[in-house]
Amino acid sequence: MATNRTFTMIKPDAVANGHIGAILNDIIAAGFKVVAMKYTHLTEKNAGAFYEVHKERPFYGDLVQFMTSGPIVAAILEKDNAVEEFRKLIGATDPTKAEEGTIRNKYATSIEANAVHGSDSDENAAIEGNFFFSALERH
Ligand code: CMP
Repeated sequence: MATNRTFTMIKPDAVANGHIGAILNDIIAAGFKVVAMKYTHLTEKNAGAFYEVHKERPFYGDLVQFMTSGPIVAAILEKDNAVEEFRKLIGATDPTKAEEGTIRNKYATSIEANAVHGSDSDENAAIEGNFFFSALERH
């Protein structure tokens, strides 16, 4: 059953390019409620652990470097069917394939620097949210 929660990060490219406000605006306008949010800078250890599932992929090392290259915004978001709805809002991983009007279509620069992360399942949404936030930080 859907938990109605997902996890997102606004990645270092979008933060550096000044898109935090526009992206949050798109997220809220699409009907998501912010349950938790923080502005932070991942260490190599944090980013390596977060993306552990991709450890064997050829892009893993570069991805970890990129995700530690500047601050990010992490958030837990709530909406009916949140995981699927959020993936629709952000568009395909590769921004050249992301539908017109999606967040990645508007703000991403490459498949790696793709502006935002969105959980791919309810199970991962819970794992990823727990990675960043304690119960006291959820409202
Ligand atoms: P994200 O949704 O955060 O999940 C894994 C990330 O790995 C993905 O977004 C991209 O930033 C990155 N990624 C996925 N596929 C590739 C690829 N083929 N080359 C480089 N980076 C990738």
